[in-house]
Amino acid sequence: MDKLVIEGGVPLNGPIRVSGSKNAALPILLACILPQGEVNLGNVPRLRDIHTTLKLLDILGCETSFDGNNVKSRVCDLKIEAPYDLVKTMRASVLCLGPLLALKGEAKVALPGGCAIGARPVDLHLTAFEQMGATFDLESGYIHGRCDGLKGTDIHFDFPTVGGTENVLMAASIAEGDTIIENAAREPEVVDLADFLNACGAKISGQGTSIIKVEGVSSLHGCDYRIMPDRIEAGTYMVAAAMTDGELIIEDCPFQELDAVVYKLRRMGIWLEEDDQGVRVRRDNGIISGVDITTQPFPGFPTDMQAQLMTLMSLAQGAGTIEEKIFENRFMHVSELVRMGANIKLKGRTAMIRGVEKLTGAPVMASDLRASASLVVAGLAASGRTDIQRIYHLDRGYERLEEKLSAVGARIWREKE
Ligand code: UD1
Repeated sequence: MDKLVIEGGVPLNGPIRVSGSKNAALPILLACILPQGEVNLGNVPRLRDIHTTLKLLDILGCETSFDGNNVKSRVCDLKIEAPYDLVKTMRASVLCLGPLLALKGEAKVALPGGCAIGARPVDLHLTAFEQMGATFDLESGYIHGRCDGLKGTDIHFDFPTVGGTENVLMAASIAEGDTIIENAAREPEVVDLADFLNACGAKISGQGTSIIKVEGVSSLHGCDYRIMPDRIEAGTYMVAAAMTDGELIIEDCPFQELDAVVYKLRRMGIWLEEDDQGVRVRRDNGIISGVDITTQPFPGFPTDMQAQLMTLMSLAQGAGTIEEKIFENRFMHVSELVRMGANIKLKGRTAMIRGVEKLTGAPVMASDLRASASLVVAGLAASGRTDIQRIYHLDRGYERLEEKLSAVGARIWREKE
């Protein structure tokens, strides 16, 4: 197994380009089940989760090719079963449920089970499909859904679930009649999926607001579409610039979609400005201040940036708090950051961070994708050597990370353990 080695303390400087969004690409790839005709996707990041999704599409009967950052997809002979071996490695596989039910009237998808950041059930997805006319049985660890054609209806989510909204959007696009989704997720990745479906001939409006209307159409056609840039990758580079006291120019940065993060970063004393080349980020007067953060559904502060901001706050003058409201058990990076010298105390879902003067390199263990990112930014700023084990988590979400960070001055490389 590989580990990542970082010799920290080098300010990062120069341009760094953001890749396509993983969380937009995953549902859009699974939505490729729906159209008749060829889909050409651009800006698809080369990540482990993307390869897993392409494998799933292959098993489901889509012919795909992945060349550079372009994916071509065409449906051949659609199957209905998403096997456990794939679903267990990537929870987003459950997003094939909606397209399969809508097209085939039947879907068998392995139940994703628990994962490192909490129970993460899919009950809201299933309730919505039941309202559209599906029934479900749990058979040997598989959700087996059946319907006699899905029918549009009014759906009100108890919580604005990202995956649930995406699953229903895909199914409702070709369901009979109109669907209204209330308390829909407003995340930019949901908007990207809706825009993609519209490019395929769907009739979706209201994406980006909490009420989305979908007028069902009889079929979708192929299209060419470019995946949006990854806002969490961009936000991670903002933190890396501030942590190392350097100046990065983040190219292809979805700045508007990062409002909540940018607001907190500015309050912490980080200077950010957008120009023709990208978004420039550096400390304003050298000092980082503590702030209070609560994670929320979009447009609130994203849970996927929580670990990185906590790392930055560990170098603040003064104290700050982070309350995690989206996932239980998403503080596994805390014990590792403490091993690097951070002063963080946990009480339930709130972390209290008291700034320290510096972090020190140490051997640490990555536990999930965003926790891994926080350890990388910690390692970049720490004095001495940091060895990050279990970096396969990082390979799920950051494309060519060492290469991109090395190009802006970081001393970072992979070694066999
Ligand atoms: C997506 C993102 C993930 C991000 C999260 C929140 C992808 C592939 N992943 O995950 O990176 O952290 O949004 O922004 O896009 N819940 C239920 N029942 C359900 C569905 C969700 O209880 O049926 C709960 C979950 O357990 C969790 C919370 O709702 O506590 C958020 O889940 P959701 O918004 O669905 O996130 P994901 O789509 O899983």
